[in-house]
Amino acid sequence: MAETMKGLKRTCRCGELSVANVGQTVTVMGWVAKQRNKGGIIFVDLRDRAGLLQIIFEEADCGSENFAKAERLRSEFVIAVTGRVERRSGAVNENLATGQIEVRAQQLRVLSEALTPPFPIEANSKTKEEIRLKYRYLDLRRPDLQEKIILRSKICAAVRRFLTEEGFLEIETPILCKSTPEGARDYLVPSRVHPGSFYALPQSPQLFKQLLMCSGYDRYFQIARCFRDEDLRANRQPEFTQIDMELSFVDVDDVIDVNERLIQYLCREAIGLEVTAPFPRMKWIDAMNRYGSDKPDTRFGMELVDVSDVVKDCGFSVFTGALANGGSVRGINARGQAGMPRKKIDALVDFAKGYGARGLAYLAVQEDGSYKSSFAKFLTEEQLIALTQAMDAKPGDLLLFAADKTDIVWSVLGALRLELGEQMGLIDHSQFHFLWVVEFPQFEYSEEEGRYVAMHHPFTMPMEEDLERLESDPGSVRAKAYDIVLNGVEIGGGSVRIFQDDVQERMFEALGFTKEKAHEQFGFLLDAFKYGVPPHAGLAYGLDRLCMELTGAESIRDVIAFPKVKDASCLMTECPNTVDEKQLAELGIGLVEAKEEQSI
Ligand code: AMO
Ligand code: AMP
Repeated sequence: MAETMKGLKRTCRCGELSVANVGQTVTVMGWVAKQRNKGGIIFVDLRDRAGLLQIIFEEADCGSENFAKAERLRSEFVIAVTGRVERRSGAVNENLATGQIEVRAQQLRVLSEALTPPFPIEANSKTKEEIRLKYRYLDLRRPDLQEKIILRSKICAAVRRFLTEEGFLEIETPILCKSTPEGARDYLVPSRVHPGSFYALPQSPQLFKQLLMCSGYDRYFQIARCFRDEDLRANRQPEFTQIDMELSFVDVDDVIDVNERLIQYLCREAIGLEVTAPFPRMKWIDAMNRYGSDKPDTRFGMELVDVSDVVKDCGFSVFTGALANGGSVRGINARGQAGMPRKKIDALVDFAKGYGARGLAYLAVQEDGSYKSSFAKFLTEEQLIALTQAMDAKPGDLLLFAADKTDIVWSVLGALRLELGEQMGLIDHSQFHFLWVVEFPQFEYSEEEGRYVAMHHPFTMPMEEDLERLESDPGSVRAKAYDIVLNGVEIGGGSVRIFQDDVQERMFEALGFTKEKAHEQFGFLLDAFKYGVPPHAGLAYGLDRLCMELTGAESIRDVIAFPKVKDASCLMTECPNTVDEKQLAELGIGLVEAKEEQSI
């Protein structure tokens, strides 16, 4: 029979006690992590969110009834103990914050018993993640996970403190929204009252925060849940959280300034890290050319080199063919890797193919100056010298080249650079490199849709000097958009917004919207702009990604209390699930036979 808390009050958390409390009588409550019966003495490690505490039961102190209860304690029982804090009689545990003390129990109540958990509740669990996610409430008891979830809470509190201090207002925006086709796929919610009509869950509060600027709120922020029905990758979740903000009467530098100070504050408060500002700013085109990525990890070098000019007249048709098709030939230098076994090089070629490469050409400069290469025979001696010079190759270096359309070459070498950086141990994981990527292209061409689509979103302001080319040469127009990158992860992004309705209309036109379609989708925003709109700009962080980087988590799931898995399901609640016919009927929904789904 479970006992109650009647007449008992917890005085502190287990992990909060130290030698400073010796001599005090305390009441602690928590979960039994371990019970060891040494015959006459019982030791219990008691756990709560603050840490572990050793309790010692002896019949002489706690009486026979309590001692008998202590004998029956098992892992994960929830108990309350009253006793005296003492210096440890036995060995001191250096690994434990409370390692110098123990509580000599006088009273014990068993508040709840527990089944044997399906896996041990311990840090650095070896248990398969699927099992841990099924029993997430147990997984969340594990100290390393608790640490991350607690740090996330601290980060949120610090965000609120800092932004409130800076004059931002926290304002909520709707979760039931209007579906808009730009961006990722929407999650839809059927309306019962309007059969056949749907709400969409917000992909971000973008339009609402712009409207709040029209309404004069000046500086807004929200820790906002966002929903995107997209294919999940390592650092993506179907529902995730943004630290979202918008500011009026500002330009790029103002947004960057307040955000650099926010980041400095967060790093100091959350992990005691001093970050130097201003952060470097890199143009998008330079990021692509140097790192093959719009979110470069600048903790190590191995930059891409464009060797198109050097190889343009060579006899290797893979290179010249790519150039003839308007592409480029670029390479990276894996220093000291000339001795890489053929098998490993082949594995790199396969890796590159995973990023769309048709192949990877290599040239290993041997210690004696000779070459081992898949293509050197097609180049003259002079061409080879020019190539190795362009790559700054020394004996012992391995050069890897990709030849293709430039965006493919970027993506292949960008990924290969990261892979090799990791393999070669070039990345210092104790470093935090913040970086702004600026001057993004306004548009990217979607082969799938046969039109230009917004790289950021349709409300992003083009750079003033490029505005005149919006119709004539959209591909060359740069945006007043910026991403904030930490160690190769895009942790946030934003832009200066269009605030002139004529520019916004031109933007919709460039994106292939008819006037009618634009008004049908975004009429409320275009109308709002007609009633006095301040120039405004904003940014949103992926809170989950930020927490992941600051806590050193390996998975985005480790910083989310109840995450979803790759197929967007929750292993604990088993959602999504089917619903009653009655519920469907109320919504006016009939199901068609589901087609065989090919992608998960
Ligand atoms: P954007 O789409 O770039 O911008 O999103 C902002 C940040 O949110 C994070 N993020 C995600 N995190 C986890 N899972 C996902 N599926 C996911 N998708 C995005 C990223 C990203 O940098 N309204 C604009 C912001 C603005 O212009 O102010 C927006 O949503 O870290
Ligand atoms: P192949 O002519 O297909 O036998 O390729 C000759 C060498 O060039 C092999 O090492 C291929 O891996 C490499 N290669 C093929 N296509 C490309 C490409 N697009 N870029 C770089 N190397 C390539």
